[in-house]
Amino acid sequence: MKVLILGSGGREHVLAWKAVQSKHISDVFVAPGNAGTDEIAKNVDLKPTDFASVVDFCLEHSIDVLVPGNEDPLVLGIVDYIAESEANNVYVFGPNKEAAQLEGSKEFAKAFMAENNIPTAAYEAFLAETIEDAKSYLRTKAAPYVLKADGLAAGKGVVIAQTLEEADRTLDEMLLDAKFGDASSRVVIEDFITGVEFSIFAMSDGDNYIILPEAKDYKRIGEGDTGLNTGGMGAVSPVPFMTPDFMQKVVDQVIDPTFKGLRNRSNKYVGFVFFGLINDNGQPKVIEYNVRMGDPETEVVFPRLKNDFGELLDLARNGKLGSAKVDIDPRTCTTVFTVSGGYPETYEKGKSMSIGQAPNNNILFFHAGTKRNGQEVVTSGGRVLAVTAFGSDIQEALQNSYSGVNVIEFEGKNYRNDIGEDLMAMTT
Ligand code: GLY
Repeated sequence: MKVLILGSGGREHVLAWKAVQSKHISDVFVAPGNAGTDEIAKNVDLKPTDFASVVDFCLEHSIDVLVPGNEDPLVLGIVDYIAESEANNVYVFGPNKEAAQLEGSKEFAKAFMAENNIPTAAYEAFLAETIEDAKSYLRTKAAPYVLKADGLAAGKGVVIAQTLEEADRTLDEMLLDAKFGDASSRVVIEDFITGVEFSIFAMSDGDNYIILPEAKDYKRIGEGDTGLNTGGMGAVSPVPFMTPDFMQKVVDQVIDPTFKGLRNRSNKYVGFVFFGLINDNGQPKVIEYNVRMGDPETEVVFPRLKNDFGELLDLARNGKLGSAKVDIDPRTCTTVFTVSGGYPETYEKGKSMSIGQAPNNNILFFHAGTKRNGQEVVTSGGRVLAVTAFGSDIQEALQNSYSGVNVIEFEGKNYRNDIGEDLMAMTT
């Protein structure tokens, strides 16, 4: 099987790393990839949203399976495009444009949850014409106020406003000043829920699904979960509060009803589903759906997955994913992201990198914002390289991750020193 993975982040490096280990996969291409994927697979100079070029590449290289790593091509309809193209025998492991609205439209996702009795925060959606209704609705709620741009906004479309003034201003910016372009022409206001956030992932072939290990990510730049949101500064899997009873609740109240709801809409959902959840005093509630794997969660979820990725893709292609027995490494896996100085605000790129020897064989380096520049590897993004490690518990895994962080050098290197500390406090 020849596989093309679309994307250039840490998640895509992990997917490529897993794909090259498969007995079922002969060739792995990554478009456009990074310096890490370049070492283990073949990078292709292609933009994932340039569908015509993706089709040409698939035809020229007899690609069997296409795995879109991030949401953009899916929400823009790559599955539908390929199905109507000459490359329609390529199996795309992702949802069609209609189903990708689970991530592409916050209102679609909320309405879907309401329709299927899936626990989530109460909400209303508003347009520019109904902005005064939106402001009145805010006044029926207590702070903090959660405002979400309906469409994709590069991870920046969610604002938690602490005061009514800030919430009103955010509504003006989103609905009247098109702060996120078309993505904020509609805004969802929802109740704020407190609790610990975590993520669960599933792979679906349209009729059957399997559940992958859960994880918790760390979104803020600053220690103690302070400062601006980032793409993710680290992750841990498994999550200590995920007892068998709590997992059963998640399956019964969220995962099963989601897939049943999708089947009822005659929406054969193919691909990954990322359930962004919150543990609200022992009750799981959905914060968001994504139609892809998470990043940096993939950096801890896929290393724990012992199954052959190619075999899973092949089973999915044949509608037999339900027969897969998910085999999970019981060890704890952590990842710590090294990021460019200044990220997530302005930062410089093109810094020379030195990547030393991993201090032991429980450590894996996954590249994200890196590229090759002649003989050297240089930084090319905010999140540069994730150091994933295994351990018998969170503490040991983190010791390994941080010993790996110490052998990565580039000017301005920054990272959080407290990944997983909240989870360790729960277990002591
Ligand atoms: N870790 C969050 C995301 O991938 O969206």
